[in-house]
Amino acid sequence: MIECKNLKKTYGSGEEETQALKGVSFSIEDGEFVAIIGPSGSGKSTLMHILGCLDTPTSGQYFLDGRDVSKLSDDQLADVRSSKIGFVFQAFNLLPRTTVMRNVTLPMVYSGVPEAELEPRAAAALRSAGLPENRWMHKSNQLSGGQIQRVAIARSLVNDPSVIMADEPTGNLDSRTGEIVLGTFQRLNKEHKVTIILITHDPETAQCAERIIFIKDGLILEDKKNEDRKNLIQEL
Ligand SMILES: Nc1ncnc2c1ncn2[C@@H]1O[C@H](COP(=O)(O)OP(=O)(O)O)[C@@H](O)[C@H]1O
Ligand SMILES: [Mg+2]
Repeated sequence: MIECKNLKKTYGSGEEETQALKGVSFSIEDGEFVAIIGPSGSGKSTLMHILGCLDTPTSGQYFLDGRDVSKLSDDQLADVRSSKIGFVFQAFNLLPRTTVMRNVTLPMVYSGVPEAELEPRAAAALRSAGLPENRWMHKSNQLSGGQIQRVAIARSLVNDPSVIMADEPTGNLDSRTGEIVLGTFQRLNKEHKVTIILITHDPETAQCAERIIFIKDGLILEDKKNEDRKNLIQEL
């Protein structure tokens, strides 16, 4: 479903030029759970922005479900994003004084889902993300970090994406809470067949993936099956 051929991304020019990606090629099949790991500054977020259709490469090709999306306009990219991709970021970018339910229905409002479907679909996503129902009418600034990240996961699910991209989603969580969030991704991947791309600098976090791609200085160093995969799925 995802195929990248020789992706390069250069920021700035002349003295200021940074080659964040120097020629990256790989593919990811439907239903995979892949971690992309590398030190700070290695190009992970740059790669995720391209994979997530938030940005385009300087050169190279990116095929998403068979379509070359590397040269689409901003409007076309926005359509691809809202129909195919869910995002979860490190910073808890929810609206703070707004209810959980409202935070989760908003992306559907933007993508034109009929009014009557908003709450049922949000409820299904919140259940899939494992947030207890007695928290759904709380404001998001009344929740713990782990609960907030579950809301973010629910929100990433509501438009029924084929892939979820998560950039350091456990970066602001303690390790126990982080494991619960990673287990949530594993369950979505296993039970709902959602493709997961998890970006992290932390080797321990990457252990939850079935495949690990190592990136350094804008290049892939290694791409391997994770033989020591850790199962973090929790019973609900
Ligand atoms: N918008 C930008 N403008 C200029 N340089 C950038 C920009 N975004 C990232 N970079 C540079 O590109 C390199 C890769 O950054 P990034 O993809 O954010 O790495 P990572 O997410 O692995 O920490 C870094 O050297 C960073 O400073
Ligand atoms: Mg980053």
